[in-house]
Amino acid sequence: DVVDKGPYRHYMLKEIFEQPESTARTIGAYVNAVDQTAQLPNEQELDFTSFDRVYIIACGTAYYAGCVAKYWFEKYAKLPVETDIASEFRYREPALSKNALAIFVTQSGETADTLAALRYCQENGLTTAAVVNVPTSTIARESDAILPTLAGAEVGVASTKAFTAQLCSLASLAVIAGRARGVLTEKDETHLTEQLMQIPGRITEALKVENAAKELAVDLSKARDVLYLGRGTMFPIAMEGALKLKEISYIHAEGYAAGELKHGPIALIDENTPVVMIAPTDPLLEKTISNMQEVAARHGKVLLITDENGAKVGADTPAWTLIAPSCDPFIAPILYSVPIQLLAYYVAVEKGTDVDQPRNLAKSVTVE
Ligand code: G6P
Repeated sequence: DVVDKGPYRHYMLKEIFEQPESTARTIGAYVNAVDQTAQLPNEQELDFTSFDRVYIIACGTAYYAGCVAKYWFEKYAKLPVETDIASEFRYREPALSKNALAIFVTQSGETADTLAALRYCQENGLTTAAVVNVPTSTIARESDAILPTLAGAEVGVASTKAFTAQLCSLASLAVIAGRARGVLTEKDETHLTEQLMQIPGRITEALKVENAAKELAVDLSKARDVLYLGRGTMFPIAMEGALKLKEISYIHAEGYAAGELKHGPIALIDENTPVVMIAPTDPLLEKTISNMQEVAARHGKVLLITDENGAKVGADTPAWTLIAPSCDPFIAPILYSVPIQLLAYYVAVEKGTDVDQPRNLAKSVTVE
């Protein structure tokens, strides 16, 4: 299919700006807006009371969506989750529970390692489900349940709207699981589905950081290394932010749990190593702000991605800031994906790289 770039210079930018619609479509497949409940699409059923754990298996960006989902499943459904990189999973001789649900997250549905891991789980008698964007793909066809992401065709090699759609499907699934397992009350379900339905509008607000991201990208593009730090669900978002930056700008970047700063990465910090701190208002904000002070004390440049309140809390420490909309912590990882995408995009544009077709990378990796 030939997809038009419209007024956008790159597919990646077009796809970033499509996220209000792509998340709305995806959430619409899981959430009934009238009675504010969540259910599996197409009358499928998964008996969440029968599962004793969940494995989430994927590669690349899809793996980081799985890492965010681990926080959701454990918090809202009290279901233990193991996340695995598909290429590691089947070679590590995992001690599998037969009562587990194995979830495969994949945009293309054709990634060789993810497909091999799916077949491995089926041979071992596990229930399988695919969070997948291409409904006709091999992984969609071979899984017991299909959890669709309705991102539409994604052309840019660096995944953006497929990632936020994966997060929308997984967040909905966590609510479904929490309700089925009696962890969430009807009132909780109403609250959480309300938050999910706010995502498209909040993404529209988050996209307003574009100009600020563009300006900050001028300085960031001069860095050789960039660290991304976050706590809780922002830890996988930090890893995804670092991946986005390295994929398209070729700047070395690493994502770390902010609490690990003292256990290694702090040694790298000097005036030449910018640190992107991703810190929405949540119970962990103060801790992340104190990490920010540790960076500043070592003359590291901080780029704080936060909301209005977080900017006030962090105001004593000199930092560049990107202000995202304030939101319930449940949906924060979806909204905070937007500023890290725009930042990576504008750094790449500043460096003049081939944004949509970065060197050495393929959209879908169908060989091991
Ligand atoms: C490649 C792409 C990434 C993608 C990964 C997994 O590395 O460049 O954007 O996240 O494959 O692909 P999948 O289709 O399984 O999501």
